[in-house]
Amino acid sequence: MFLQTILSNKKLLTACVLAVVITICAIVVPIAVVNSYDDAPAPKKFTGREVLDEVPLIDGHNDLPFSIYLVERNLINRFNLDSNLKEHPVWSAVNSSHTDLPRLRQGKLGAQFWVAYIRCADTQYKDAVARTLEQIDVTKRIIKKYPNDFKYADSADGIMEAFWEKKLASLIAVEGGHSIDSRLAVLRLFYELGVRYMTLTHSCNTPWADASPIDEVTPVPSQLNNLSAWGRHVIWEMNRLGMMIDISHVSYGVMRDVLQHSRAPVIFSHSSAHTVFEHHRNVQDDILSELGRKRGIVMVNFYPLFVGGNTIDDVIKHLNHIRTITGVDHIGLGGDYNGVSVTPEGLEDVSKYPDLFDMLANGVLRTGETFDPWTRDDLQKLAGLNLLRVFREVERIRDGLVDEEPFEDLIPYEEFERANVADQPCMSDMDMHKN
Ligand SMILES: *[C@@H]1O[C@H](CO)[C@@H](O)[C@H](O)[C@H]1NC(C)=O
Ligand SMILES: *[C@@H]1O[C@H](CO)[C@@H](O)[C@H](O)[C@H]1NC(C)=O
Repeated sequence: MFLQTILSNKKLLTACVLAVVITICAIVVPIAVVNSYDDAPAPKKFTGREVLDEVPLIDGHNDLPFSIYLVERNLINRFNLDSNLKEHPVWSAVNSSHTDLPRLRQGKLGAQFWVAYIRCADTQYKDAVARTLEQIDVTKRIIKKYPNDFKYADSADGIMEAFWEKKLASLIAVEGGHSIDSRLAVLRLFYELGVRYMTLTHSCNTPWADASPIDEVTPVPSQLNNLSAWGRHVIWEMNRLGMMIDISHVSYGVMRDVLQHSRAPVIFSHSSAHTVFEHHRNVQDDILSELGRKRGIVMVNFYPLFVGGNTIDDVIKHLNHIRTITGVDHIGLGGDYNGVSVTPEGLEDVSKYPDLFDMLANGVLRTGETFDPWTRDDLQKLAGLNLLRVFREVERIRDGLVDEEPFEDLIPYEEFERANVADQPCMSDMDMHKN
């Protein structure tokens, strides 16, 4: 009877249908809304630069101390690094000026290896040791001058302590074996001064290790010395001390010898991939593979003349290539800022690292070409975790060698002869090396 009344009354029927629809809506819509809150806190897109707040970004190679020598003659009392050097009357005209405190902050640097470098062509067999000491001194003084920004570090733990204090961990490196003047005593004292890696050569051969330009000479000299017998002692003494061995700048043969003889993982502080761009400063694939097997790290150089292109895209191609050869556990960054006179578009100075991390996370080059994006884990390793792992392993091996005696061997006179540098007028008591 009731149903019949409704069905026979169109108005009433419409009202009833509406009521049912409204009731259903009142129940279902709130559930749907709650659900959408549940599974979608609108997934915030991961930006690569976030990683730099999570782990320290550790750059392997910055030549600011050499710029300070060139521009200021190492006189820093009146020099202000906490200023925009792009507007400084003198520094603004210097092509190789890519670093100041405002830009370091923007670049979210967590740790920097500052390089005590002096030119080998001027100083080898002359005043290399004294000149290197001056660069170590100016580096220590610039670190002390900005205690709110820099924190001196000489260990992996020291890097993390600085990072938690939101300061830039500042480490010291020596670039070029010419700086030890073929004396293990000097190497040991460099360690005591805080030097935590030494590049075995710069562009000059030393009596005990060939530099990379030898690989460019055609034909390659038949008498490659590679790492000499005494050079092996340098390697072992560095292992014993806990100083990282840097094989950027050395010849291919020396890379192979060092990878064979070092008891600890080794680093390339600023080198890129030879397969992507053929340059003697870049690392060949077989060396990259061996480096990975030996748990080392290659910190990629941004210099356009080594990278073979002048944009951030070109640098990313090197990173991606190395990732395919070594895996993601053996890559880092060594921008070479202040050591070069040109830098890539997009990586002009130390303020630009965050952009690189964003691009790697996105997996898109500026040209629009895509690549496998780097995950958060990948980027944490690239930023700093890989270098920290290598550093800790070098420290662990040092601790295991506490009972080993220092290597005392003098470089044999024959090694000076073979290198054609016996009878150097600037060196005294060469007879000491004859036995
Ligand atoms: C430095 O930069 C200026 C202006 O860009 C250029 O003319 C000069 O060649 C550069 N010098 C070096 C050594 O690259
Ligand atoms: C030096 O290294 C090169 C490349 O690995 C090798 O072919 C050559 O035999 C080595 N020379 C010596 C003297 O060990």
